[in-house]
Amino acid sequence: MEKIKVGVIYGGRSGEHEISVRSAKTVIEQIDKDKYEVTPIAISREGNWLNPQESLKLFAAETQQLLAENTANFSDSPVALIGDTRYQGLAKLQIAEGEERLAKLDVIFPVLHGTYGEDGTLQGLLEMANIPYVGCGVLASSCGMDKIVMKTLFRDAGLPICRYVWFLRSEWERDNEIVIRQIESKLGFPCFVKPANLGSSVGVSRAADDDSLREAINLAALYDRKIVVEEALDMREIECAVIGNDEPRASSPGEYIIRDDNKKFLDYTEKYAGTGNNEFVVPAHVSNELAVKIQQMAVTAFKAIDGSGLARVDFFFLNKTGALLVNEINTLPGLTDASGFPKMWAGSGMKFSEVIDSLIALAIERHQDKSRNKTSF
Ligand SMILES: Nc1ncnc2c1ncn2[C@@H]1O[C@H](COP(=O)(O)OP(=O)(O)O)[C@@H](O)[C@H]1O
Ligand SMILES: [Mg+2]
Repeated sequence: MEKIKVGVIYGGRSGEHEISVRSAKTVIEQIDKDKYEVTPIAISREGNWLNPQESLKLFAAETQQLLAENTANFSDSPVALIGDTRYQGLAKLQIAEGEERLAKLDVIFPVLHGTYGEDGTLQGLLEMANIPYVGCGVLASSCGMDKIVMKTLFRDAGLPICRYVWFLRSEWERDNEIVIRQIESKLGFPCFVKPANLGSSVGVSRAADDDSLREAINLAALYDRKIVVEEALDMREIECAVIGNDEPRASSPGEYIIRDDNKKFLDYTEKYAGTGNNEFVVPAHVSNELAVKIQQMAVTAFKAIDGSGLARVDFFFLNKTGALLVNEINTLPGLTDASGFPKMWAGSGMKFSEVIDSLIALAIERHQDKSRNKTSF
Protein backbone atom coordinates (compact mmCIF):
# COMPACT_ATOMS: atom_id res chain seq x y z
CA MET A 1 0.00 0.00 0.00
CA GLU A 2 1.24 3.46 -0.81
CA LYS A 3 2.15 5.55 2.18
CA ILE A 4 0.06 8.55 3.15
CA LYS A 5 2.08 11.72 2.58
CA VAL A 6 2.00 13.93 5.65
CA GLY A 7 3.46 17.44 5.77
CA VAL A 8 4.42 18.35 9.33
CA ILE A 9 4.66 22.13 9.77
CA TYR A 10 6.49 23.52 12.81
CA GLY A 11 8.43 26.42 14.28
CA GLY A 12 6.53 29.52 13.25
CA ARG A 13 6.22 33.20 13.95
CA SER A 14 5.27 32.81 17.58
CA GLY A 15 6.64 33.07 21.10
CA GLU A 16 6.13 29.31 21.19
CA HIS A 17 8.45 28.58 18.24
CA GLU A 18 10.80 26.49 20.37
CA ILE A 19 8.03 24.38 21.88
CA SER A 20 6.61 23.75 18.44
CA VAL A 21 9.95 22.32 17.29
CA ARG A 22 9.94 20.04 20.32
CA SER A 23 6.36 18.97 19.63
CA ALA A 24 7.19 18.24 15.98
CA LYS A 25 10.15 16.15 17.09
CA THR A 26 7.84 13.89 19.08
CA VAL A 27 5.36 13.62 16.20
CA ILE A 28 8.15 12.74 13.75
CA GLU A 29 9.63 10.18 16.13
CA GLN A 30 6.34 8.55 17.02
CA ILE A 31 4.43 8.55 13.73
CA ASP A 32 4.14 5.09 12.13
CA LYS A 33 6.70 5.25 9.34
CA ASP A 34 5.35 2.14 7.65
CA LYS A 35 2.10 3.97 7.05
CA TYR A 36 3.15 7.59 6.61
CA GLU A 37 5.82 9.43 4.68
CA VAL A 38 6.62 12.66 6.51
CA THR A 39 7.81 15.84 4.85
CA PRO A 40 9.18 18.31 7.42
CA ILE A 41 8.25 21.93 6.77
CA ALA A 42 9.62 24.52 9.17
CA ILE A 43 8.68 28.18 9.39
CA SER A 44 11.32 30.51 10.82
CA ARG A 45 10.68 33.05 13.58
CA GLU A 46 10.57 35.68 10.85
CA GLY A 47 7.84 33.76 9.02
CA ASN A 48 9.99 32.32 6.22
CA TRP A 49 9.13 28.85 4.98
CA LEU A 50 12.15 26.58 4.92
CA ASN A 51 12.53 23.83 2.41
CA PRO A 52 12.43 20.29 3.84
CA GLN A 53 16.20 19.88 3.88
CA GLU A 54 16.69 23.15 5.74
CA SER A 55 13.73 22.31 7.95
CA LEU A 56 15.42 19.18 9.22
CA LYS A 57 18.31 21.23 10.57
CA LEU A 58 16.10 22.47 13.38
CA PHE A 59 16.38 19.00 14.90
CA ALA A 60 19.24 17.08 16.44
CA ALA A 61 21.04 14.53 14.25
CA GLU A 62 18.99 11.51 15.41
CA THR A 63 15.70 13.06 14.37
CA GLN A 64 17.20 14.36 11.12
CA GLN A 65 18.18 10.83 10.18
CA LEU A 66 14.62 9.59 10.46
CA LEU A 67 13.56 11.74 7.52
CA ALA A 68 16.74 12.26 5.52
CA GLU A 69 15.47 10.00 2.74
CA ASN A 70 12.14 11.83 2.39
CA THR A 71 13.74 15.23 1.91
CA ALA A 72 16.47 14.32 -0.56
CA ASN A 73 14.56 15.36 -3.68
CA PHE A 74 14.01 18.94 -2.55
CA SER A 75 17.69 19.92 -2.94
CA ASP A 76 17.79 23.59 -2.02
CA SER A 77 14.78 24.91 -3.83
CA PRO A 78 12.66 27.37 -1.89
CA VAL A 79 9.15 26.04 -1.34
CA ALA A 80 5.67 27.44 -0.85
CA LEU A 81 2.25 26.25 0.05
CA ILE A 82 -0.05 27.92 -2.39
CA GLY A 83 -3.67 28.77 -1.71
CA ASP A 84 -4.78 27.35 -5.05
CA THR A 85 -6.60 24.04 -5.30
CA ARG A 86 -4.32 22.92 -8.13
CA TYR A 87 -1.37 22.78 -5.75
CA GLN A 88 -2.31 20.40 -2.98
CA GLY A 89 1.14 20.06 -1.54
CA LEU A 90 4.46 21.79 -1.41
CA ALA A 91 5.41 23.68 -4.55
CA LYS A 92 9.08 24.02 -5.48
CA LEU A 93 9.78 27.56 -6.59
CA GLN A 94 12.90 26.57 -8.52
CA ILE A 95 12.94 23.41 -10.61
CA ALA A 96 15.31 21.86 -13.06
CA GLU A 97 14.00 21.19 -16.54
CA GLY A 98 11.57 18.30 -16.53
CA GLU A 99 11.39 18.24 -12.73
CA GLU A 100 7.98 17.97 -11.09
CA ARG A 101 6.90 21.29 -9.56
CA LEU A 102 4.64 19.85 -6.90
CA ALA A 103 5.44 17.49 -4.04
CA LYS A 104 1.92 16.31 -3.33
CA LEU A 105 0.78 16.04 0.28
CA ASP A 106 -2.28 14.06 1.34
CA VAL A 107 -2.64 15.73 4.69
CA ILE A 108 -0.95 18.46 6.72
CA PHE A 109 -0.25 18.24 10.42
CA PRO A 110 0.25 21.80 11.67
CA VAL A 111 2.31 21.38 14.83
CA LEU A 112 2.43 25.10 15.49
CA HIS A 113 1.57 26.71 18.78
CA GLY A 114 0.40 30.27 19.26
CA THR A 115 0.25 33.03 16.69
CA TYR A 116 0.35 32.28 12.94
CA GLY A 117 -0.34 28.60 13.38
CA GLU A 118 -2.76 27.79 16.16
CA ASP A 119 -4.92 30.83 15.48
CA GLY A 120 -6.63 30.02 12.20
CA THR A 121 -4.23 31.86 9.90
CA LEU A 122 -2.45 28.77 8.59
CA GLN A 123 -5.76 26.89 8.62
CA GLY A 124 -7.15 29.52 6.24
CA LEU A 125 -4.32 28.90 3.80
CA LEU A 126 -4.91 25.14 3.98
CA GLU A 127 -8.63 25.63 3.34
CA MET A 128 -7.82 27.70 0.26
CA ALA A 129 -5.47 24.98 -0.98
CA ASN A 130 -8.14 22.36 -0.19
CA ILE A 131 -5.71 20.10 1.69
CA PRO A 132 -6.99 18.02 4.63
CA TYR A 133 -5.27 19.06 7.88
CA VAL A 134 -5.13 17.87 11.45
CA GLY A 135 -6.94 19.82 14.13
CA CYS A 136 -9.40 22.63 14.39
CA GLY A 137 -10.65 24.68 11.46
CA VAL A 138 -10.36 28.42 11.01
CA LEU A 139 -13.18 29.45 13.33
CA ALA A 140 -12.37 27.07 16.20
CA SER A 141 -8.67 27.86 15.96
CA SER A 142 -9.16 31.59 16.18
CA CYS A 143 -11.81 31.35 18.91
CA GLY A 144 -9.59 29.00 20.89
CA MET A 145 -6.68 31.40 20.57
CA ASP A 146 -8.41 34.46 21.92
CA LYS A 147 -8.91 34.19 25.67
CA ILE A 148 -11.69 36.77 25.57
CA VAL A 149 -13.70 35.27 22.72
CA MET A 150 -13.37 31.78 24.21
CA LYS A 151 -14.69 32.98 27.57
CA THR A 152 -17.74 34.43 25.85
CA LEU A 153 -18.40 31.12 24.10
CA PHE A 154 -17.84 29.12 27.31
CA ARG A 155 -20.23 31.30 29.25
CA ASP A 156 -22.81 30.95 26.52
CA ALA A 157 -22.43 27.15 26.71
CA GLY A 158 -23.14 27.32 30.46
CA LEU A 159 -19.56 26.60 31.54
CA PRO A 160 -18.32 28.28 34.72
CA ILE A 161 -15.40 30.68 34.29
CA CYS A 162 -13.52 33.06 36.58
CA ARG A 163 -14.15 36.79 37.01
CA TYR A 164 -12.20 38.94 34.56
CA VAL A 165 -11.96 42.25 32.79
CA TRP A 166 -10.42 43.01 29.43
CA PHE A 167 -9.32 46.10 27.56
CA LEU A 168 -7.38 47.19 24.51
CA ARG A 169 -3.72 48.19 24.64
CA SER A 170 -4.74 51.52 23.09
CA GLU A 171 -7.17 52.13 25.98
CA TRP A 172 -4.38 51.39 28.44
CA GLU A 173 -2.02 53.71 26.65
CA ARG A 174 -4.61 56.48 26.45
CA ASP A 175 -5.43 56.41 30.15
CA ASN A 176 -3.71 54.08 32.63
CA GLU A 177 -5.81 55.27 35.54
CA ILE A 178 -9.22 54.34 34.11
CA VAL A 179 -7.98 50.81 33.44
CA ILE A 180 -6.37 50.42 36.88
CA ARG A 181 -9.52 51.69 38.63
CA GLN A 182 -11.67 49.24 36.70
CA ILE A 183 -9.43 46.31 37.66
CA GLU A 184 -9.26 47.36 41.30
CA SER A 185 -13.00 47.78 41.60
CA LYS A 186 -14.01 44.63 39.73
CA LEU A 187 -11.25 42.21 40.76
CA GLY A 188 -8.85 43.61 43.34
CA PHE A 189 -5.54 41.93 44.18
CA PRO A 190 -3.92 39.54 43.54
CA CYS A 191 -4.80 39.17 39.87
CA PHE A 192 -3.41 37.61 36.71
CA VAL A 193 -2.59 39.64 33.63
CA LYS A 194 -2.37 37.97 30.23
CA PRO A 195 -2.10 38.86 26.56
CA ALA A 196 -5.38 37.64 24.99
CA ASN A 197 -3.73 35.68 22.19
CA LEU A 198 -0.78 33.65 23.36
CA GLY A 199 0.16 30.50 25.20
CA SER A 200 2.86 28.76 27.22
CA SER A 201 2.49 31.49 29.86
CA VAL A 202 4.38 33.95 27.65
CA GLY A 203 3.57 37.47 28.84
CA VAL A 204 1.49 36.17 31.78
CA SER A 205 2.15 37.54 35.26
CA ARG A 206 0.66 37.73 38.69
CA ALA A 207 0.13 41.19 40.16
CA ALA A 208 -0.11 41.72 43.89
CA ASP A 209 -0.33 45.51 44.01
CA ASP A 210 -0.68 48.64 41.93
CA ASP A 211 2.99 48.74 40.88
CA SER A 212 3.21 45.13 39.82
CA LEU A 213 -0.12 45.47 38.02
CA ARG A 214 1.22 48.31 35.86
CA GLU A 215 4.35 46.32 35.15
CA ALA A 216 2.30 43.23 34.26
CA ILE A 217 0.07 45.17 31.88
CA ASN A 218 3.06 46.75 30.16
CA LEU A 219 4.53 43.29 29.70
CA ALA A 220 1.31 41.80 28.30
CA ALA A 221 0.97 44.82 26.00
CA LEU A 222 4.24 43.85 24.31
CA TYR A 223 2.55 40.73 23.01
CA ASP A 224 -0.99 41.67 22.10
CA ARG A 225 -3.41 44.52 21.50
CA LYS A 226 -5.96 42.87 23.78
CA ILE A 227 -5.26 42.24 27.44
CA VAL A 228 -7.22 40.21 29.95
CA VAL A 229 -7.00 40.43 33.73
CA GLU A 230 -8.46 37.73 35.98
CA GLU A 231 -8.99 37.25 39.68
CA ALA A 232 -6.09 35.15 41.03
CA LEU A 233 -7.40 31.81 42.16
CA ASP A 234 -6.21 29.43 44.83
CA MET A 235 -6.60 26.23 42.88
CA ARG A 236 -5.32 23.01 41.40
CA GLU A 237 -4.67 22.79 37.67
CA ILE A 238 -6.45 19.91 35.97
CA GLU A 239 -6.39 19.21 32.25
CA CYS A 240 -8.32 16.97 29.92
CA ALA A 241 -7.50 15.96 26.34
CA VAL A 242 -10.18 15.74 23.66
CA ILE A 243 -10.09 13.98 20.29
CA GLY A 244 -12.81 13.80 17.66
CA ASN A 245 -14.92 15.73 15.20
CA ASP A 246 -18.70 15.82 15.68
CA GLU A 247 -18.60 13.23 18.47
CA PRO A 248 -15.53 14.13 20.49
CA ARG A 249 -14.31 12.02 23.39
CA ALA A 250 -12.31 13.01 26.42
CA SER A 251 -9.26 11.35 27.97
CA SER A 252 -8.66 10.56 31.56
CA PRO A 253 -7.90 13.95 33.21
CA GLY A 254 -4.38 14.83 34.35
CA GLU A 255 -3.09 17.23 36.95
CA TYR A 256 -0.08 19.49 37.43
CA ILE A 257 1.32 18.93 40.88
CA ILE A 258 3.54 21.84 41.88
CA ARG A 259 5.94 20.86 44.65
CA ASP A 260 7.61 24.16 45.34
CA ASP A 261 5.10 26.27 47.25
CA ASN A 262 7.08 29.44 46.62
CA LYS A 263 6.43 29.09 42.95
CA LYS A 264 3.25 31.06 42.38
CA PHE A 265 2.20 29.66 38.99
CA LEU A 266 3.15 27.59 35.96
CA ASP A 267 5.25 30.06 34.05
CA TYR A 268 7.21 29.25 30.90
CA THR A 269 10.25 27.92 32.79
CA GLU A 270 8.11 25.85 35.07
CA LYS A 271 6.31 24.31 32.12
CA TYR A 272 9.31 23.45 29.95
CA ALA A 273 12.65 23.67 31.73
CA GLY A 274 12.24 20.46 33.67
CA THR A 275 12.78 22.27 36.97
CA GLY A 276 11.67 19.20 38.85
CA ASN A 277 9.25 21.42 40.77
CA ASN A 278 6.22 20.14 39.00
CA GLU A 279 4.94 16.89 37.71
CA PHE A 280 2.04 16.10 35.42
CA VAL A 281 0.21 13.10 36.80
CA VAL A 282 -2.40 10.95 35.09
CA PRO A 283 -4.98 10.26 36.29
CA ALA A 284 -5.58 13.46 38.23
CA HIS A 285 -6.13 12.87 41.93
CA VAL A 286 -9.88 13.43 41.83
CA SER A 287 -12.94 11.31 42.55
CA ASN A 288 -14.51 9.31 39.72
CA GLU A 289 -17.50 11.57 39.89
CA LEU A 290 -15.36 14.67 39.40
CA ALA A 291 -13.38 13.00 36.60
CA VAL A 292 -16.62 12.37 34.71
CA LYS A 293 -17.69 15.99 35.23
CA ILE A 294 -14.30 17.19 33.92
CA GLN A 295 -14.68 15.02 30.82
CA GLN A 296 -18.19 16.28 30.16
CA MET A 297 -17.12 19.89 30.57
CA ALA A 298 -14.11 19.30 28.30
CA VAL A 299 -16.38 18.00 25.56
CA THR A 300 -18.78 20.93 26.07
CA ALA A 301 -15.88 23.39 25.78
CA PHE A 302 -14.69 21.65 22.60
CA LYS A 303 -18.14 21.89 21.07
CA ALA A 304 -18.56 25.49 22.24
CA ILE A 305 -15.75 26.61 19.94
CA ASP A 306 -16.86 24.17 17.21
CA GLY A 307 -13.66 22.19 17.63
CA SER A 308 -12.42 19.35 15.48
CA GLY A 309 -9.48 16.98 15.64
CA LEU A 310 -7.91 17.70 18.98
CA ALA A 311 -7.78 20.09 21.89
CA ARG A 312 -6.74 20.24 25.50
CA VAL A 313 -9.10 21.84 27.97
CA ASP A 314 -7.56 23.30 31.13
CA PHE A 315 -9.46 23.66 34.38
CA PHE A 316 -9.06 25.37 37.71
CA PHE A 317 -10.29 23.26 40.62
CA LEU A 318 -10.76 25.70 43.48
CA ASN A 319 -9.28 24.64 46.81
CA LYS A 320 -11.78 26.40 49.04
CA THR A 321 -15.11 25.76 47.35
CA GLY A 322 -14.42 22.69 45.21
CA ALA A 323 -15.80 24.56 42.20
CA LEU A 324 -14.53 23.62 38.77
CA LEU A 325 -13.88 26.45 36.31
CA VAL A 326 -12.78 26.23 32.70
CA ASN A 327 -9.58 28.21 32.24
CA GLU A 328 -8.90 27.76 28.55
CA ILE A 329 -8.91 25.52 25.52
CA ASN A 330 -5.77 24.91 23.47
CA THR A 331 -6.44 23.79 19.93
CA LEU A 332 -2.83 22.75 19.27
CA PRO A 333 -1.70 21.65 22.70
CA GLY A 334 1.94 20.86 23.38
CA LEU A 335 2.94 17.48 22.00
CA THR A 336 6.45 17.31 23.47
CA ASP A 337 7.49 14.26 25.43
CA ALA A 338 6.81 16.26 28.59
CA SER A 339 3.39 17.50 27.50
CA GLY A 340 0.04 16.67 29.02
CA PHE A 341 -1.85 15.78 25.84
CA PRO A 342 0.15 12.63 24.94
CA LYS A 343 0.41 11.66 28.60
CA MET A 344 -3.34 11.83 29.14
CA TRP A 345 -3.98 9.58 26.13
CA ALA A 346 -1.27 7.19 27.27
CA GLY A 347 -3.05 7.10 30.63
CA SER A 348 -6.27 6.33 28.77
CA GLY A 349 -4.70 3.35 27.00
CA MET A 350 -3.82 5.06 23.71
CA LYS A 351 -0.21 5.19 22.52
CA PHE A 352 0.91 8.41 20.85
CA SER A 353 1.35 6.67 17.48
CA GLU A 354 -2.31 5.63 17.71
CA VAL A 355 -3.29 9.18 18.64
CA ILE A 356 -1.53 10.43 15.50
CA ASP A 357 -3.33 7.76 13.47
CA SER A 358 -6.71 8.90 14.65
CA LEU A 359 -5.86 12.58 14.20
CA ILE A 360 -4.96 11.96 10.57
CA ALA A 361 -8.11 9.89 10.02
CA LEU A 362 -10.18 12.68 11.59
CA ALA A 363 -8.52 15.27 9.34
CA ILE A 364 -9.48 13.28 6.26
CA GLU A 365 -12.99 12.67 7.59
CA ARG A 366 -13.56 16.37 8.22
CA HIS A 367 -12.23 17.28 4.81
CA GLN A 368 -14.58 14.78 3.16
CA ASP A 369 -17.51 16.04 5.18
CA LYS A 370 -16.78 19.62 4.12
CA SER A 371 -16.41 18.52 0.49
CA ARG A 372 -20.08 17.51 0.61
CA ASN A 373 -21.06 21.17 0.86
CA LYS A 374 -22.13 22.67 -2.43
CA THR A 375 -20.15 25.73 -3.45
CA SER A 376 -22.49 26.72 -6.24
CA PHE A 377 -26.21 26.59 -6.90
N1 LIG B 1 -6.78 33.35 37.27
C1 LIG B 1 -5.68 32.69 37.63
N2 LIG B 1 -5.43 32.40 38.93
C2 LIG B 1 -4.31 31.73 39.31
N3 LIG B 1 -3.37 31.29 38.45
C3 LIG B 1 -3.56 31.54 37.14
C4 LIG B 1 -4.72 32.23 36.66
N4 LIG B 1 -4.63 32.32 35.34
C5 LIG B 1 -3.50 31.72 34.98
N5 LIG B 1 -2.83 31.26 36.07
C6 LIG B 1 -1.53 30.56 36.02
O1 LIG B 1 -0.82 30.97 34.85
C7 LIG B 1 -0.64 29.88 33.95
C8 LIG B 1 -0.78 30.36 32.52
O2 LIG B 1 -2.06 30.92 32.29
P1 LIG B 1 -2.99 30.44 31.11
O3 LIG B 1 -4.26 31.20 31.17
O4 LIG B 1 -3.13 28.98 31.14
O5 LIG B 1 -2.20 30.93 29.84
P2 LIG B 1 -1.42 30.17 28.68
O6 LIG B 1 -2.33 30.23 27.51
O7 LIG B 1 -0.19 30.96 28.49
O8 LIG B 1 -1.18 28.76 29.14
C9 LIG B 1 -1.69 28.87 34.38
O9 LIG B 1 -1.31 27.57 34.01
C10 LIG B 1 -1.71 29.07 35.89
O10 LIG B 1 -0.60 28.45 36.52
MG1 LIG C 1 -2.49 27.42 29.92
